[in-house]
Amino acid sequence: MAAEQGEGVKVPRMKLGSQGLEVSAQGLGCMGMSAFYGPPKPDGDMITLIHHAVDSGVTFLDTSDIYGPHTNEILVGKALKGGVRERVELATKFGISFADGKRDICGDPAYVRAACEASLKRLDVDCIDLYYQHRVDTRLPIEITMGELKKLVEEGKIKYIGLSEASASTIRRAHAVHPISAVQLEWSLWSRDVEEDVIPTCRELGIGIVAYSPLGRGFLSSGPKMLEDFTNGDFRKYLPRFQAENLEHNIKLYERIVEIAETKGCTPSQLALAWVHHQGNDVCPIPGTTKIENLNQNIGALSVKLTPEDMAELEKIGSADAVKGDRYSPDMRTWKDSDTPPLSTWKAV
Ligand code: ATR
Repeated sequence: MAAEQGEGVKVPRMKLGSQGLEVSAQGLGCMGMSAFYGPPKPDGDMITLIHHAVDSGVTFLDTSDIYGPHTNEILVGKALKGGVRERVELATKFGISFADGKRDICGDPAYVRAACEASLKRLDVDCIDLYYQHRVDTRLPIEITMGELKKLVEEGKIKYIGLSEASASTIRRAHAVHPISAVQLEWSLWSRDVEEDVIPTCRELGIGIVAYSPLGRGFLSSGPKMLEDFTNGDFRKYLPRFQAENLEHNIKLYERIVEIAETKGCTPSQLALAWVHHQGNDVCPIPGTTKIENLNQNIGALSVKLTPEDMAELEKIGSADAVKGDRYSPDMRTWKDSDTPPLSTWKAV
């Protein structure tokens, strides 16, 4: 029970990539505090939650300029006051914008620089520890975007570079311009397509792996009950996996997780997180939560030990046929469509 509450569980530290970045072995996804998962939560409560996370050893904070947009970075910036900044590893992202009400993905050098400067201002910090390209701009060679990120490192505005939802080939090309410290991707018991190509490429290049939505956006924690709480502002309503025609099938996966969690004496969330933690010491899951009790429970996942037999059983229940529906609707860019034109064809305008 104590472990279930995360009590007495020390959050280990880990290296992300080969450039010196060290983070807590579990991070905190801050998105849901301000955006996409229903109405924004009260600032005061979220600042208390972030402080509790940091005091508990979860010091790797994940945000993006598009969460809100902008309000999540402002919130995180407020939480960093009073000496907290020095105790955390701060990750944010650029690349998705809603200019003129239209979603756009931009990796143009001038845009990258302006986005970074705006994030520094909102977060009210001198330097971002890990700066990710949130989605790859496929209109220009990745080398062009990376060239500007490299300059930002040289100027001390960012310490380490990350990519999110990038293909193996894009990761490889980017890494040749400047070492990439972390690749962020959706990796969980029900999102495993990255295992074929993207994960092996990160490992070959010594790049750290940050697993977002490790709880299947809450479905692996609470199953269909989660859907009852969806409000109008909750974008999960529109994701293929939560549509009625797929849900009926996907519920079976949740039910198996509940059964196995019971035999392991942990909660479904802890089992799902433990599965990610057991993928290797180069993998850092960043579950999102807005509640202290859930954060404590997630820390408790670090004490759940899975045997090779448990892993094999989980791998079976989390196979591709166990899940119906894509991760995103077709208009949302993922690593599958993140290859960029060859540098040789590029003519700057
Ligand atoms: P994302 O990376 O997109 O935030 P996730 O980490 O897979 O996705 O899941 C986040 C969801 O899981 C949130 O809806 C969160 O709800 P709360 O804000 O209410 O916590 C839910 N969640 C996180 N930890 C949980 C836990 N231990 N038990 C139940 N639900 C949890």
